[in-house]
Amino acid sequence: MESTLLKVPARNEKEAKQASSEACNELYFEMENLCIYNTDFLHTECVGENSIDLVITSPPYNVDIRYNSFDDKIPYDAYLDFTREWLTKTYSLVKDDGRLCLNIPLDKNKGGQQSVYADFVSIAANRVKLPFHHCVE
Ligand SMILES: C[S@@+](CC[C@H](N)C(=O)[O-])C[C@H]1O[C@@H](n2cnc3c(N)ncnc32)[C@H](O)[C@@H]1O
Repeated sequence: MESTLLKVPARNEKEAKQASSEACNELYFEMENLCIYNTDFLHTECVGENSIDLVITSPPYNVDIRYNSFDDKIPYDAYLDFTREWLTKTYSLVKDDGRLCLNIPLDKNKGGQQSVYADFVSIAANRVKLPFHHCVE
């Protein structure tokens, strides 16, 4: 199972304790108003829908980086399917007025030239219905 640290600020101590005790054995660390989960983002149920103000992430770029268990060299179509899957999950977790800050390359050459940024924006806007705001270079 691939894992990463999801840093989720709980709104208060009660919420933090509730999150740690409810059906979630993926809690890695908790302190007052902070819970850190070490888990597979695609499959975790530790984070409630419509509960997140801000997601900041740097997803895999599919450029053959040697991660422990994530295959970073898959066909580009499969990579875009994976992208749609985690963007859809992200959209379900963020609040209606929440935000996603995404760190991705504009394009890539390794493993074949692809316009990564354009493809992400297209998936976000057309498939996941995530409204796009702007790009910071
Ligand atoms: C481009 S790297 C991010 C690197 C990070 N910005 C850093 O500076 O360390 C992408 C990360 O996503 C992780 N990852 C891939 N699939 C995942 C999943 N389903 N759940 C959680 N993390 C995942 C990979 O293991 C990798 O660490």
